[in-house]
Formats: sequence, structure tokens, C-alpha cells
Amino acid sequence: MAEIITFCNQKGGVGKTTTSFNIARAFSLKKKNVLVIDLDEQANLTEALIAEDSKQYEVSIADSLISQPVNTLFSVMTETIWENVMLLPSAKGKTSALLSEMSGQGAIASEFRLKKLLEQVPSEFDIVIIDCAPAINKLTVNSLVASTRAVLVTQSQLYPTIGLIAVAGVIEAVKASYNPGLKLSGVIVNQHAPRTRAGREYLEQIASAAAEFESRILEPAIPAKQIVQRTIAERKGIDELLMVSKEDRTDMLTRYDALAKEMLK
Ligand SMILES: Nc1ncnc2c1ncn2[C@@H]1O[C@H](COP(=O)(O)OP(=O)(O)OP(=O)(O)O)[C@@H](O)[C@H]1O
Ligand SMILES: [Mg+2]
Repeated sequence: MAEIITFCNQKGGVGKTTTSFNIARAFSLKKKNVLVIDLDEQANLTEALIAEDSKQYEVSIADSLISQPVNTLFSVMTETIWENVMLLPSAKGKTSALLSEMSGQGAIASEFRLKKLLEQVPSEFDIVIIDCAPAINKLTVNSLVASTRAVLVTQSQLYPTIGLIAVAGVIEAVKASYNPGLKLSGVIVNQHAPRTRAGREYLEQIASAAAEFESRILEPAIPAKQIVQRTIAERKGIDELLMVSKEDRTDMLTRYDALAKEMLK
């Protein structure tokens, strides 16, 4: 069975999408078959993964998550810029209708819809990566209910650190009520500045927050680097970017590759 990994944090702008993109690439470079799911209506990951000339996607994940969907997993699944990576595109423009339908009176067991949909994932897929919106909503809960693992993405700064325990609490609650097999793999520290005192102090705080919910920091941390920012903006993996120093390229590829391994431990 495929490992299904939710990337989440209710805090915005910490690097969930950038990390999902680069980890998806890391797995594809390891010759894994990857399915990426964009549960964020901002559609940043969808836009980064779909080739520029294909511009529009006709269907989205919303079409297969509404009650009594006519769309199967296969009618929504789309090719991406990478050969062995497929995508279930964002429900851009349809998310609020979907969320209110899911929370409405007639919606029974709507926490389980994504899990049910993913039963159709063919056995060739090794990894499913789910990028969540910066919110703890019904879609995030669906993601956690459907997953084998959760990875928190945060930054070594003040406010992101404070919110971690709250998200971890939601993960614990989902585990207790709906998905006993869910494992919190750990916390990825993004945009880390190891040379600053604040960076080091916040890293310690994240480590002790992680220990409180019996988890850990996934090593290595990802520094703030232009090369990382360029990936999503240019729709390219780190290995595919032009005009990059060899040292930066090797360093960042090694980091994401190590993280991809680490989160499955
Ligand atoms: N390691 C990094 N180095 C440099 N820039 C980064 C890095 N990680 C993320 N960024 C930049 O930070 C911004 C926010 O990143 P991203 O969109 O991945 O965050 P997010 O958590 O998915 O945001 P949202 O909560 O809105 O979904 C983007 O402009 C991205 O390019
Ligand atoms: Mg995002």
C-alpha cells in the first residue's frame, strides 16, 4: 500500500507547498510513482505542477469529493511536468461550496470521503503527497483521516512555533477518533537560519514542542535559499533549474532526498 503523507500547519506561508513540491520531486528522482493532491484552493501546487501550456484543468478534486460524485479518481487525475508524478488538482473556486456541503446536515461521515476516494489509487503508486491549506478545516481532517503519516512544516521563528502544539493536538484527535494508524512523522523546519541566535533558539523550542507530542524534528532543516524559491516559480525541480551554483544544487538535493527518507522512518 502507498504511504500517504499529509503536509500541514494552520499557519500560512511557512513552506508547506514548497516542501510538498520538492519532496514530490525527491521521491520521483528515486524512481517512485507519486500522486500529489492539492487540497488548498489557492492552487499554488497545482499551478506549479501543471505545464504552462496546459493552463486550465477541467476537473478538480472537488468533483470527486462532493457527495455522490460522478467523477472517479481517474477522471480527475492529471499529468504533471514530471513523468512519474500525477496530480489531483485543487478545487479552486469550488472549495467553499464543497466545505459547506461537507459540513451540512445531510453530510454523513464526510471526514472519510478522501480516504474512500484513495481506495481507488492503483498499486503502482508508492507515495501520495497531500498539500493542505493553512487551516484546520474539513479538508485537512479528510487528509489526516486518509493518511498513513503527517508531517508538520514550520519555520524557526516566533509565531510558527507557538501554533505547532495546536496542530499536533488536531492530529492526535484525528488519530484517536478516526485513524489509529496515523503517525506523526515529525516537523520539517523550513527557512532555517542556523547562524543566527534566534534561529538556534527557535529550533530548540520546536524540538521541545515536538517532544511534547512524542515527535521530533526531521533532519536536515531547509535554509532560506533563492534556489528553493525558484522551484515553484519556474515549475522546475532543483535538479532542473538553470544558472544555479553546483554547490547549492547538490546541497539542496541532498537535503530533500534525506528528508524524503527520514519522514518514512
Ligand atoms: N526554503 C525557502 N527558501 C526561500 N524561500 C522559500 C523557502 N520556502 C518557502 N519559500 C517562499 O516562501 C513563500 C511561502 O511558501 P509556501 O507557499 O510554500 O508556503 P505555504 O505554507 O504553502 O503557504 P500557504 O499557507 O499560503 O499555503 C513562497 O514565496 C516561497 O517561495
Ligand atoms: Mg501552500
